[in-house]
Amino acid sequence: MSAPKIIALAGSLRQESFNQKIINEAARFALQTGAEVEVIKLNELNIPLFNEDIEAQGTPSDVQLLKDKLRTADGILLASPEYNGSITAALKNAIDWASRTEQGAVPAFRNKVVALFAASPGGLGGLRGLNHVRDILSGIGSLVLADQLAVPAVHTLFNENGQINEPVTAEKVSALAHQLVSVASKLK
Ligand SMILES: Cc1cc2nc3c(=O)[nH]c(=O)nc-3n(C[C@H](O)[C@H](O)[C@H](O)COP(=O)(O)O)c2cc1C
Repeated sequence: MSAPKIIALAGSLRQESFNQKIINEAARFALQTGAEVEVIKLNELNIPLFNEDIEAQGTPSDVQLLKDKLRTADGILLASPEYNGSITAALKNAIDWASRTEQGAVPAFRNKVVALFAASPGGLGGLRGLNHVRDILSGIGSLVLADQLAVPAVHTLFNENGQINEPVTAEKVSALAHQLVSVASKLK
């Protein structure tokens, strides 16, 4: 069986995003299983605020790129920062764009296995937003793993190389990344 293709994505545009750092680590752990893993950084893509008028003029090239990458993926490692108890506008905007289906095409999130992560300096680790992103993705056909991980006090966890320096959290991130690869390869 060929290795599953995994996309790793965080819903923050912030240069020093903790969620991006968590997803980089999840990607590194997934790579160790032999999976093909690509990290996509939302702040490197030019994704306008979704507007059907813009869409009517043609899908922006970076949006198309994101959709194409999602379509060819078997699984998605997704870290969703929590803003006011929900998901970020940047992530919702990217999901809204990617959910749009050209005639005859397969919806980008459909049948993708998704592992959800969240990270926050706060005590709940962004847990409340995960229910929202789970709902949204389930509604557009993704298979969201029951297990998920919210990482509290995330600002205390990284060393200067961007690696998690606290073994319990590192093990949890690794376990969920490995579970995603395992389920994605079984469903491939
Ligand atoms: C508008 C806004 C709302 C926020 N709301 C929450 C919240 O509801 N829960 C929480 O744990 N942190 C909240 N935070 C703090 C974020 O968790 C924190 O900024 C975090 O670093 C964002 O993720 P990032 O580092 O990946 O960009 C909020 C931050 C902003 C800017």
